[in-house]
Amino acid sequence: MTEKEFIPSPYTKTVSTGKTRFKSPSNIALVKYWGKKENQIPANPSISFTLSECATVTTLSYTKLNNPGSMFSFNISLDGKREEGFKPKIKTFFERIYRYLPFLKEYHFEIETSNSFPHSSGIASSASGMSALALCLMDIERNLYPKMTLEYFNEKASFLARLGSGSAARSIKGSLVQWGNHASIKGSSDLFGIEYPNKVHPVFQNYCDTILLVDKGQKQVSSTVGHDLMHGHPFAEKRFSQAHENLSKLEPIFASGNLQDFIGIVESEALTLHAMMMTSMPYFILMKPNTLEIINKIWTFREATKSHVCFTLDAGANVHVLYPNDEKAEVERFIEDELAAFCQNGQFIHDHVGNGAQKIND
Ligand code: PMV
Repeated sequence: MTEKEFIPSPYTKTVSTGKTRFKSPSNIALVKYWGKKENQIPANPSISFTLSECATVTTLSYTKLNNPGSMFSFNISLDGKREEGFKPKIKTFFERIYRYLPFLKEYHFEIETSNSFPHSSGIASSASGMSALALCLMDIERNLYPKMTLEYFNEKASFLARLGSGSAARSIKGSLVQWGNHASIKGSSDLFGIEYPNKVHPVFQNYCDTILLVDKGQKQVSSTVGHDLMHGHPFAEKRFSQAHENLSKLEPIFASGNLQDFIGIVESEALTLHAMMMTSMPYFILMKPNTLEIINKIWTFREATKSHVCFTLDAGANVHVLYPNDEKAEVERFIEDELAAFCQNGQFIHDHVGNGAQKIND
């Protein structure tokens, strides 16, 4: 697929008004995307578990304008409250995707969104939020062009979501999604995420992820700035090729369910991501003292119990605790007894691998 193939054929139907709703999950990367080229093209391929409980529900109501103008016409609300502050981000998103959705200026949109997790939890809502909106927009396009295949619908939804927030490209499908060209992953593309096409052992189908809310404050450095600092970064090229290598190493691990080796790659990826931040110029640290306390507790517990619990991190201080479903009882007890104390207000969210976004019918 090339970008041009996402420019639609002339629409065959007209629709004057309607409403659509999608629930889209967050995702947690195992091999991290950090660094990008122009137009949200990733500097290296990444792979993630699609989550389930952490999700955004977006309702999009649309009404055809009698006199379409040169501007986009929309309002956005979060949890029923108008959010003027979100408008510039959505406007930029619409500008980026207008070429691929030419109906955008012909309608007025009311975007109502809500997250299952608190807005101030430090959990990024951009992946679930942008993918939910992209799916709603694709649903409108499907009404205008009913011959669209499901494959095209999903690929284009991921393609559009990517233009909103890179990692959102991985929130359309489940349970393991790969985004970015990789030599041995068939169908992989820089333009959109795909369901991991190679063999996946059942242990990964219902893997657990408990998100420990270590710091709920505003991040000191945004992902956008962080990605940008990979330009001219002294270790960038090595890091990008390492991501390719790690994806190759994961192939037999996903197939066999070798958790020992899985842990080695996942934890190394998390620390490498943060090492890139610490070695950027200007440098920065997003981990907090409690992030390190938790990592050390996990290592001690793993050593003592031979558990397969491990951690990963996103671009923040929160810790994602990953473990197989058949160790759920022991690990949940460990989290409550030993890790909750390092979370802000003792807060954490139990989540697990899910199957991707869903349309919600009234
Ligand atoms: O989608 P963005 O631009 O917010 O970048 C996300 C980057 C990481 O969460 C740190 C890694 C990843 O692959 O999700």
